Amino acid sequence: MTTQTVLYVRQHIFSGAIRAFHWLRALAIVALVITGFYIAWPFLAMPSSSDVLVQGWIRVVHLICGFVLVAITVARAYLFFFSKSDIERRSFKDVISAKRWIGQLKSYLWMGHEPHTGVYGPLQFVVYLGITLAAVFMCVTGLVLYANVYHEGLGGALWTPAMWVTQLMGGLAEVRVWHHYITWAFIIFVVIHVYMAVWMGIRFKHNSVDSIVSGYDYHPTSDNKH
Ligand code: HEM
Repeated sequence: MTTQTVLYVRQHIFSGAIRAFHWLRALAIVALVITGFYIAWPFLAMPSSSDVLVQGWIRVVHLICGFVLVAITVARAYLFFFSKSDIERRSFKDVISAKRWIGQLKSYLWMGHEPHTGVYGPLQFVVYLGITLAAVFMCVTGLVLYANVYHEGLGGALWTPAMWVTQLMGGLAEVRVWHHYITWAFIIFVVIHVYMAVWMGIRFKHNSVDSIVSGYDYHPTSDNKH
């Protein structure tokens, strides 16, 4: 009889809802960046062209993806606070621990391997919080821009709070320009996020990118660490 050494242990970390929201949000953000930049610089509608509907179709895609992002931002916040598994919430314990920060930063420089209390490292948690706040900002400013074009239905219902935000930000032009600037936060985030996801999997020998597809992470056992 042969004896088998267990090299990896499997752990379920992301629910189906979290995975579905992650990819839907990723798709929405990519579409929002592309259509948003087109809205800012509609290069296809040349002055000689009569095809002015290109801008309209791009805008409608932007708005559909925008409302998808609003819905996911709300649903995801609910899941963070109230989901049965506390694997995400637990990570906050590491954010308020100086020891965990130092250990994590050292592990990025190949000095040791810091365990996580939850599913995210402290730097990762803070960056995700930052990009979530950026998403909230984009949703609020996007809805203000929307209310200024569609005055009935939802747009009409949003008019009073939209005016309040417009006043606070110093006018509609400021709302639009900040909606444009913060777009760059998402571009920078996506590049670093994809790089880090791949790098973390290689560096710490676990199921980093695959886990947001399958839901499972794999950790090397003590027999398999070097
Ligand atoms: C990551 C999220 C988002 C990104 C990257 C993004 C990007 C952009 C950009 C670059 C523009 C052009 C601004 C300019 O004129 O210079 C824009 C315009 C606009 N966005 Fe967004 N946006 C996002 C989310 C949203 C959301 C959530 C909504 C609403 C639900 C929204 C609604 C609008 C509207 C109404 C406009 C103005 C269209 C126009 O002036 O014709 N956006 N967006």
